[in-house]
Amino acid sequence: MCRGGVTPPLRFAGQRHKCRATCSGLFDLAQKLYKAYVGFVETMNSKKSEVILDETENKDFLRELIETNITRRLIPKGLSWFGCMGGLSLLAFMIQLGTGVFLMFYFIPSAGEAIASIQRVSHSVPYGWLIHRIHAVGPHVMIGMVFSHMLRILFKGIYRHPRELHWVSGACLLILTLLMYYTGSLLSVRNGGGMYSVMHMTYVYALHIAGIPLAMALFMGMHFFMVRKTGIYEPL
Ligand code: HEM
Ligand code: HEM
Repeated sequence: MCRGGVTPPLRFAGQRHKCRATCSGLFDLAQKLYKAYVGFVETMNSKKSEVILDETENKDFLRELIETNITRRLIPKGLSWFGCMGGLSLLAFMIQLGTGVFLMFYFIPSAGEAIASIQRVSHSVPYGWLIHRIHAVGPHVMIGMVFSHMLRILFKGIYRHPRELHWVSGACLLILTLLMYYTGSLLSVRNGGGMYSVMHMTYVYALHIAGIPLAMALFMGMHFFMVRKTGIYEPL
């Protein structure tokens, strides 16, 4: 180490005094370390501000998304009950979806077990009877709504250009809704008494809980995309 220019005790003959060089080397190293530290702190700080910036950006993005799609969207002036049937059909489907997923946890799709499993839901699961009832009555209401929605479109001539594809995807949705009703009724407690083989029941069950709902989600996506693209028919 440097001893401030005082004769170094460990200096041998012929050896140059390298104290100054070592000192400046250490100084350089310290400076480099300090710079690296400052750089590190600065990048950390800038990262922090980036995160804060992102958070506010996200907030604005969310607010914008909610405002443009929900809270600031206008509804038609003279909205009648018939005008609400599209949205109400969607609500009915969501209710079927919620109650159906609940029933899936208990229902056993086998001719011998179906009745017992539904009885178990109705008698020993809290509010199971209500959820089962809602899922059994809901389809009738949903079908009524989908038909009313379709009749309004038909009588007002809304299916015409540029809304042909709305009509086509809607028609597919109507067929799929009726298929849901049919497959559901085949699963129903009233039919659960060994009318068909285990294979048949599994097939119908798979269609009811996965195949047809997936197809419905696809056509609903198309239906709503088309409606957003053209805007609704009713004046705002
Ligand atoms: C999309 C999600 C759905 C799931 C996961 C689901 C699931 C189920 C399950 C597990 C059952 C058997 C329990 C029982 O027999 O009550 C059932 C029955 C039934 N489902 Fe669904 N379902 C869904 C949607 C629908 C829809 C959209 C409709 C009609 C439009 C429907 C109509 C029916 C009918 C009529 C029954 C027979 C009810 C009875 O009388 O017991 N389901 N569903
Ligand atoms: C599960 C079945 C269905 C659901 C959930 C559904 C949902 C909707 C919703 C939410 C709208 C936008 C609001 C409105 O105008 O009501 C709409 C519009 C429309 N739907 Fe459906 N729909 C279904 C079935 C049908 C059927 C069966 C048809 C005809 C065959 C149809 C044809 C149309 C048409 C043409 C529009 C555009 C209306 C406009 O521009 O004002 N939909 N649907």
